[in-house]
Amino acid sequence: MSDPRATTTGNRGLQIEEPLIFEQGSPDKTAVDLPEPPSTKDRLGGVRRSGPIGLPGLSEPEVVRHYLRLSQKNFSIDHGFYPLGSCTMKHNPRLNEKLARLPGIGDLHPLQPTATVQGALALIDACAHWLKALTGMPAVAMSPAAGAHGESVGLMTIRAALEDRGDARKRVLVPDSAHGTNPATAHACGYAVEGIPADDRGRVDLAAFREKLDADVAAIMLTNPNTCGLFENDILDIAAAVHDAGAFFYCDGANLNAIVGRVRPGDLGVDCMHINLHKTFSTPHGGGGPGSGPVVLSEALAPYAPVPYVVQGPDGFELIEDPARSDAKPFGRIKGFHGQFGMFVRALGYMMSMGSDGLRQVSGDAVLNANYLLACLRDTVTLAFEGPCMHEVLFDEGFLKETGVTTLDFAKALIDEGFHPMTVYFPLVVHGAMLVEPTETETKATLDTFVETMKALTARARAGDVEYFQEAPRLTPRRRLDETMAARNPILRWRPPAVDKAAE
Ligand SMILES: Cc1ncc(COP(=O)(O)O)c(C=O)c1O
Repeated sequence: MSDPRATTTGNRGLQIEEPLIFEQGSPDKTAVDLPEPPSTKDRLGGVRRSGPIGLPGLSEPEVVRHYLRLSQKNFSIDHGFYPLGSCTMKHNPRLNEKLARLPGIGDLHPLQPTATVQGALALIDACAHWLKALTGMPAVAMSPAAGAHGESVGLMTIRAALEDRGDARKRVLVPDSAHGTNPATAHACGYAVEGIPADDRGRVDLAAFREKLDADVAAIMLTNPNTCGLFENDILDIAAAVHDAGAFFYCDGANLNAIVGRVRPGDLGVDCMHINLHKTFSTPHGGGGPGSGPVVLSEALAPYAPVPYVVQGPDGFELIEDPARSDAKPFGRIKGFHGQFGMFVRALGYMMSMGSDGLRQVSGDAVLNANYLLACLRDTVTLAFEGPCMHEVLFDEGFLKETGVTTLDFAKALIDEGFHPMTVYFPLVVHGAMLVEPTETETKATLDTFVETMKALTARARAGDVEYFQEAPRLTPRRRLDETMAARNPILRWRPPAVDKAAE
């Protein structure tokens, strides 16, 4: 262990180990005088502390610096460009954080009587209204806690609708380019998952899809725009075929950021779609906060949506929590309480502050930024599929051929340049994939710096400096983790077959 005192001065703190707070302070030291708490006698039901518990004493600056240094050891959207494709790491406006912390909102308790939380129920209702209007769908289940949770709700709703008509279908079709959560959800919901290959345009192979579609298929789970960053142009034909077969059309709406304000999935024949509020509507993501995955539903599925839901009656807003009290046929409850209320506050704040014209501009700018990167890099980095793309651009490892540098090495080198790597090795339909999603919240200057860096690293790889890449990252508090597991992974070991130019 390094000397704890060293971290309290200068910039070295970021490069060396951060001691535990227990190593920096000691129980006999304190810099804060707290008054004795009033009559603590009975607060532990007569149980008394029998001795000191050994919590370290530290001054306020010591505590603040400890946690600040820890936070700086990680990379976040607030540190720099974070083009993690398929994850939409866009800026979360601070305005929405302020709204979520207003005392009348932040101090609510989910068990309060509904008469005392009319404003909160109105807020859930307003958020639901925006989601329905933007997607052109008549109903929404607000409670799912994330995208994958929304997928489960969607498939459980579909199953309830099928069971209601005495139709026990067993299979769900999932394109090979789907996010891993799609087949996992279908499997967890008890369906047999059947893959549909992508064609050479990176879209669903229509002929293969039609071949697999029959009276045993409960649903197709299609992502649009898909995980190759491409719009599924055949979506109307797919929807018509699914409905003709008596099945339901589940659309994975995680990439709504690319079409919001421009395309309403309801107009495309979608029956059911989850929306990742943490991707399109700027609520905090990943370690930064809980997700939220409301599911919009067609007329055919609306009656089976889970409880709870908000309705406006003559005496104000009501929360329908008991399936037996419902006029519809909800399949049950999927989550405690009423969904991620704090996320509804942020998402509604975002939607209202952007307005419908602002949201339309979001998707326009997200697609423009991705296509700008495509145009700037297409002569340097190999495109997986011919463009234009939607909100993310997909490259493959072709440009690294014969350099000895892998997609993984290249991504690690980006970290030293101050960028979070793009998503690598996903989607699986492309070898050595690099999925870059700039989002609408980045400036041209940031994108230009990224482009220059990508070009400079490519030149370095082609110049044969393999060691530089294999040792990256050098400038992070932790160096590269043991990649031997990855090295055994057949997907990561895959190399494109050598092309015989003469034979071509
Ligand atoms: C296309 C797609 N579907 C589903 C999900 C799952 O969403 P979540 O991570 O909120 O469960 C994601 C997550 O990024 C996604 O990109």
